[in-house]
Amino acid sequence: MYIYIYISVAIWAQGAFQCSVAIDIEVELCTMDVQRKLRAPKVIQVGSDFSGMDSFTTALARILPRGKFNVAFQSDILKHARQMMMNKVDPLLKPDILYKNVWQRDENNVPDVHLYMWTPPCQSFSTAGCRRGVQDERGKLLAVGVKYVCKKKPRLAIMENVKGLTHKNHKKVIKGLKNAVREDYHMYMKVLRAVDFQIPQERERLFIVLIRKDCIRHKFKWPTAVMPRVTLCDVLDPVTAHDSPGRLPRTTRANEVVKDVLRKAHKDGVDGTTIPIAIDIDASNKFRTHGVDIVKTITRTRGGQGGPWISNRGRRTTVNELLKCQGFKPDEVEWEQAGMTKRQIGQLIGNSIPVGMLGHLLANAMRSAGLLAKPVTFPQSEYAQTEQSGH
Ligand SMILES: C[S@@+](CC[C@H](N)C(=O)[O-])C[C@H]1O[C@@H](n2cnc3c(N)ncnc32)[C@H](O)[C@@H]1O
Repeated sequence: MYIYIYISVAIWAQGAFQCSVAIDIEVELCTMDVQRKLRAPKVIQVGSDFSGMDSFTTALARILPRGKFNVAFQSDILKHARQMMMNKVDPLLKPDILYKNVWQRDENNVPDVHLYMWTPPCQSFSTAGCRRGVQDERGKLLAVGVKYVCKKKPRLAIMENVKGLTHKNHKKVIKGLKNAVREDYHMYMKVLRAVDFQIPQERERLFIVLIRKDCIRHKFKWPTAVMPRVTLCDVLDPVTAHDSPGRLPRTTRANEVVKDVLRKAHKDGVDGTTIPIAIDIDASNKFRTHGVDIVKTITRTRGGQGGPWISNRGRRTTVNELLKCQGFKPDEVEWEQAGMTKRQIGQLIGNSIPVGMLGHLLANAMRSAGLLAKPVTFPQSEYAQTEQSGH
């Protein structure tokens, strides 16, 4: 009876990437299930495409000790996104290689990594967009990540996109992805809600987790809701002399919108001068939304416009508040040092992934894919109002 023994060989090249070479040896022994045992790497090599304001390494830095991972590559076509990635205060969070445009690089030269994340532009699949899917140039960007996975075979790969990708119109896209990776990967797919991960935002996002079959060490489990919830009230900046509860915007249209929302809320027993109502004052009447003590999905456009109107402050959100509504800590994002305007950082925030939602998922997926010798947890939000915090 033949069995195959796989010998793991560590090859160190180009900034220490450990890869495994399988050597087949025929041995006349009784049948045994000898599995290739890949060790958890000392330093996890990570890479991401369409990195934006980099929720990915922000989440990793909250879970892993400093120096436990190395950012082998990142990419973004936006100059100010790249500036931000290169301006990080901690040199260990800067990428070794930063690509400008994924179409203009030689795929063969993109480094191998253990963990790869890609978050292609979502307009082609979003319900607000015209749903042209992969026919749209932007939709084709999704395939860039699939090709990377098929070619480089990272132990773990994660894709994030809008919930609209689960629409029946895009069935072929999901099926194509599944077929491309089915031989080597286990694929898991789920829509997660930001509000379940201590984020005060109604935002749903699709995550696809690919774990290489030979790497699975623990059963993969989706993260479950974390308590207590964080509300908009919890993340608002302290009141300043410039704030004025119930103040209305200056433009006539926005003024009418806020008055209307406050009137209706009052009828429902909600006092918008004390409880924050986040009102979208930039949308047409058809798409108008507001949230009581929560913000509705922040988009690239709305983020760039300054975010929603906050009723109990009588102004739009500050950049810090927008950051906190996506789970970033203001001191994690050096946007001013990178020379960005409020509009530019607002747009990046609108495009980003809620850090807590991604962090909880990464902790589970990395453990499952054998990237960690011991389990790790994503920390509680510092804005969570626990009994100990006296609320
Ligand atoms: C949905 S956003 C990703 C946000 C990111 N995950 C974050 O945490 O902020 C998509 C990003 O893809 C970038 N992008 C679009 N086309 C690109 C291309 N050809 N090459 C590289 N990046 C591109 C956009 O500039 C945008 O920042």
